[in-house]
Amino acid sequence: MGELSGRIAVVSGASAGIGLAIARELHVRGARLVINARRGDRLESLAESMGGDRVAVVPGDASSQTTVEAMLDAARERFEREADLIIVNAGRGLAGSVTSSDVAHWDEMIRTNLVGAALLMRRAAARMRERGPDPEEGDSWLRSPRDIVVIGSNVGRHISPFSSMYGSTKFAVNSLAEALRRELAPHAIRVTLIAPGVVRSEFQEIAGYDPVGFGGFMERIGPVLDPEDVAGLVAFVVSRPAHVHVNDVVIRPTRQEYP
Ligand SMILES: NC(=O)c1ccc[n+]([C@@H]2O[C@H](COP(=O)([O-])OP(=O)(O)OC[C@H]3O[C@@H](n4cnc5c(N)ncnc54)[C@H](OP(=O)(O)O)[C@@H]3O)[C@@H](O)[C@H]2O)c1
Repeated sequence: MGELSGRIAVVSGASAGIGLAIARELHVRGARLVINARRGDRLESLAESMGGDRVAVVPGDASSQTTVEAMLDAARERFEREADLIIVNAGRGLAGSVTSSDVAHWDEMIRTNLVGAALLMRRAAARMRERGPDPEEGDSWLRSPRDIVVIGSNVGRHISPFSSMYGSTKFAVNSLAEALRRELAPHAIRVTLIAPGVVRSEFQEIAGYDPVGFGGFMERIGPVLDPEDVAGLVAFVVSRPAHVHVNDVVIRPTRQEYP
């Protein structure tokens, strides 16, 4: 039995990169999983590689209320209990500043990174509060850790003029995570912000970073993080005893001095 064998997790953006690595890590440690992303074929292959029995697949756009509700419903229907470990991860980057980034991607980025993340935080919080143990009602909660883990960003904390439109969505998400932590702490629900620096994934290409310029930066500060480095941190945080909460962590490649 793994240390997370009692847990039911939902991971948005699990078809690639950090979300995929987190899904694998949680699964290896025994959690039951609901995985989401738009590319359903990739999710099916991932579920198959995990043996399928502890995994439910919910393809769809994580910025839509219908998909968010479907992810949470899938946990209840498949595993007969409300999810207690939510990974708010789906997102995308965008190269450039307010003056130089491609306006055509603003809407999708803001919807995914901010609106989708906020919807998942909101609905997960509501369901955890409705159905979980509540210390304010005198319920015992120490055997039932509950987590909402938000993948924000280092550029949601330190301003990077090179990706400032993207950074603005992460500043918003970082602040929502801390605000939700304050709101839910009395109810013994841990809301954790993980703010990664540079992680090598599909992110750089989708964001449109210049492979030469940004590639050179990654080489200079490298080796940069792998998605598995972030996944290991998430697993550590959520497997602390229920009364211990690691609130907020920046994880950077060792040689990344900026941003
Ligand atoms: N890589 C970095 O350097 C870095 C640093 C700090 C923070 N982050 C954050 O980490 C998170 C994951 O990024 P990553 O590096 O793993 O990037 P990635 O390799 O591009 O993976 C992004 C994941 O999000 C999913 N996704 C994107 N838009 C979605 C939507 N509308 N609905 C559902 N799923 C969606 C993608 O799947 P589909 O395309 O199949 O939908 C994919 O599974 C993001 O929130 C990102 O902002 C990344």
